[in-house]
Amino acid sequence: MREKNFITFEGGECSGKTTVIAEIVKMFDELNINYVSTREPGGVKIAEDIRKVILNVDNVGMEPECEALLYAAARMEHLNKKVIPSLKEGKIVLCDRYLDSSIAYQGVARGLGLENILKINSFALDHLPDLTIFIDVKPEVALKRLSLRDKTDRLDLETIDFHNKVYEGYHEALKLYPDRFVVIDGNQPLNDVVNDCKKAVLKYLGV
Ligand SMILES: Nc1ncnc2c1ncn2[C@@H]1O[C@H](COP(=O)(O)OP(=O)(O)OP(=O)(O)O)[C@@H](O)[C@H]1O
Ligand SMILES: [Mg+2]
Repeated sequence: MREKNFITFEGGECSGKTTVIAEIVKMFDELNINYVSTREPGGVKIAEDIRKVILNVDNVGMEPECEALLYAAARMEHLNKKVIPSLKEGKIVLCDRYLDSSIAYQGVARGLGLENILKINSFALDHLPDLTIFIDVKPEVALKRLSLRDKTDRLDLETIDFHNKVYEGYHEALKLYPDRFVVIDGNQPLNDVVNDCKKAVLKYLGV
């Protein structure tokens, strides 16, 4: 098993994660690089089922603790059934969100505290990403982009205060794990964000 293949993408809503991953997938295809592209919460059946519960707009009153545990449960299922087996097959795993999302959203934005998040995610802590591309977008920029998009899920309905806290939370994660983070300026046009992310991944892989 080649080491250092677990790459995660983090950032608030509309930071460009999903677009960036799709472009990196195209680049990997052209370069004949073996990869798996996946996302959290989800990536495998049970975790996708949990995702539906978490994002359902009818579940707007969900307790923060319940939300944090559901994310951790989905993470565990995805880690054991998809991430670790793919790494063992020597594939690069590109994952849209992972533990740092829980630090930012449940730990800081929902106010549950870092300690509690790290405790309930202790399984995932045995498998930290090797590289985390953090697309750093100012909350007001993100909110402006979000206002142009359809409100599709429970988290899209949050206020500027929530997005400020998410931003703060990501910076807490960065402080906690400075060695695996690469910060990309996400306030730029999407094309520049994509190019910066591609460059960072290629540099990391030594390609
Ligand atoms: N740098 C950017 N400039 C302008 N618009 C952007 C930028 N990045 C993302 N967007 C817009 O934000 C929307 C969501 O993009 P994308 O799905 O890639 O973000 P995301 O980080 O995956 O969001 P989410 O966390 O909600 O899944 C799209 O409409 C996209 O065009
Ligand atoms: Mg996305």
